[in-house]
Amino acid sequence: MSSTTSVNGIPQGWQAKMLSWLGGPIQRRLAQWGSQLQQINAFEPMLAAEEPRDLRKRSLALRYRAKAGEPLASLVPEGYALVREAAKRAIQQRHYDVQMIGGMALFYGCIAEMETGEGKTLTATLPTYLHALIGKGSHVATVNDYLAERDAAMMRPVYEVLGMSTGIVLTPDTQDTRRKAYACDITYGTAKEFGFDFLRDRLLLRRMGMAQSNLLNQLTSARMEMGGEMPVQREHHFCLVDEADSILIDEARTPLIIGSLGEKAIERIVTLYRWAAEVVPQFLEEEHYEYEHDEKKIELSTEGRQLVRSMPKPEILRGVGLIDLYQYVERAIKCKRDFLLDRHYVVKEGEIVIVDENTGRLAEGRKWRDGIHQAIEAQERIDVSVPTGQAARITIQDLFLRYKHLAGMTGTASSAAREFKKVYKMRVIPVPTNRPVQRKRLPDRVYGTADQKWRAIVEDVREAHIKRRPVLIGTRSIDKSVILSKLLTEKGIPHQVLNAHEVATEAEIVARAGEEGKVTVATNMAGRGTDIKLQQPVKDLGGLHVICTELHDSARIDRQLMGRCGRQGDPGTVQQYMSLDDDVLRTGFGPQTAEKMTKVGEQDSANPQKYLSLLQRAQRKVERRHLRDRFVLLFHEKERKKMQQEMGQDPYLDTPD
Ligand SMILES: Nc1ncnc2c1ncn2[C@@H]1O[C@H](COP(=O)(O)OP(=O)(O)OP(=O)(O)O)[C@@H](O)[C@H]1O
Ligand SMILES: [Mg+2]
Repeated sequence: MSSTTSVNGIPQGWQAKMLSWLGGPIQRRLAQWGSQLQQINAFEPMLAAEEPRDLRKRSLALRYRAKAGEPLASLVPEGYALVREAAKRAIQQRHYDVQMIGGMALFYGCIAEMETGEGKTLTATLPTYLHALIGKGSHVATVNDYLAERDAAMMRPVYEVLGMSTGIVLTPDTQDTRRKAYACDITYGTAKEFGFDFLRDRLLLRRMGMAQSNLLNQLTSARMEMGGEMPVQREHHFCLVDEADSILIDEARTPLIIGSLGEKAIERIVTLYRWAAEVVPQFLEEEHYEYEHDEKKIELSTEGRQLVRSMPKPEILRGVGLIDLYQYVERAIKCKRDFLLDRHYVVKEGEIVIVDENTGRLAEGRKWRDGIHQAIEAQERIDVSVPTGQAARITIQDLFLRYKHLAGMTGTASSAAREFKKVYKMRVIPVPTNRPVQRKRLPDRVYGTADQKWRAIVEDVREAHIKRRPVLIGTRSIDKSVILSKLLTEKGIPHQVLNAHEVATEAEIVARAGEEGKVTVATNMAGRGTDIKLQQPVKDLGGLHVICTELHDSARIDRQLMGRCGRQGDPGTVQQYMSLDDDVLRTGFGPQTAEKMTKVGEQDSANPQKYLSLLQRAQRKVERRHLRDRFVLLFHEKERKKMQQEMGQDPYLDTPD
């Protein structure tokens, strides 16, 4: 490679030098990294000739230098060249130059925006290896167990060549397994597990009487011994967050919370929930309560309160305050209205499992707050999980800001660039693609009613299916997948339906969605991270056809679904469908506008297509509201933390009873 060529638009050589002085902030950085690429490449012929043993020795030498205090930045060229060589040998993938650039963006604490399917999994090895050299652990966080396991398994051989150990933390793991995983050089896991492990450790440390001391990192194992229990995590040194917008932004609206075991009045509370769920049908809107649509708040009217007072109640509820009774009834009404079975949650093995709105996955282990979860359990007539109160909590923002070094990567970051900057002080760097993107987005289609929309979708599927092209259809909820599946069956189109009930196999089915003639219906859990590989015959047919059946709460989620096709320069097409009774209008503009639009849609004379921009505006409105929610949460948490610190308390723990 001559010294003046450029890597997909990233200048090298003298051009890079010039731009690194004169360019804009992003251009300047890319130019600087582009010029380092040559140093990395210079190592290649030498490393390629070395024995595996020599590579490992080199890696060990780097460890010594890093531990001796040499700045990691000066180890980038050799370190990155080593990782590339290791990947070539271990998994026959040579990091593309743009992946090296992405790796540098990550090393310098940026959010690397690399298109879906560009190979972020492989890119991750670069900064993760380098930061692990110091010996304080390197974490890679992602959105679900499947991706954590897949990525760790795929990259482990690369790290092994360099003498680095890799651990995985998965939801069912025991404390011992977790501790071992965290003790590895590199640890893969979900953001959620990393967070809960932190909180559990924190609680444990307090039980050991050390909560206030910030000695977490310096404790000797002897002092930590307490009935065999020890914290599982080491310190928070480096974390690379995959799907950074999902974890650091979408998920960041709710903090991670661990409950403590309260013993008192449990029976009474359970009875209260059950009683409230039972009497709810007797309460009528407008007569007994008002529903405030904006805030989704229920308020009992005078008549409603009167009804509460006059109702017969179980003996054990005697002595419960009226205000409490009102509150329980109001909450039960809210649950009945706003939380729908098989849409917002499913009942699985006698438990309520939340369906994550962003990913369509079952969010196992997560609970709604403020008694909502228990109220729904009572409504579904299953065991009411003992409301335990909080014991420890941390916001996603606080959790990741604890890391000394933080980096993120995703295919969809730009639209959240300001938030990344403001909350996490991280800059988004768009990294060019290795090959030109061949994904073609067809013009969006708007229909009057959902019914018309579904029929058009089925026709679309049929046309692609006749040509043997694979089709992936994303829906927003399980019930909608069921509707579509019925229609497809009526037309005799064989297909796979994925809903959140089969978490284990789902991703594999999606991964195979690229085979000739396959039709796959999935909730948007298929949206992130899943890799769909195409065989040559399918590429010749035009690649995968992705159908999006309505707008999600955030355009980034739509784009992730679309990103299942057109990966690694493959061909592919995307078609977005909408209708005038879509949920997004209700969540965006409220029930009045939504009902008006539903009526418009039902008129045959209407031209639904002209409402395209209205639908898009509704989505932006939801995005803005969620943004506001996150900043409100951040503000409150900051105040709370300040107060607790002033009182000398651990900001992450509740005061013990
Ligand atoms: N340097 C490389 N050489 C060969 N194949 C590669 C290389 N980098 C990535 N790939 C392949 O590209 C595909 C996509 O990779 P990967 O799933 O990591 O993409 P991604 O950027 O994480 O996408 P998403 O945003 O959807 O998560 C995989 O099949 C992977 O094996
Ligand atoms: Mg990925």
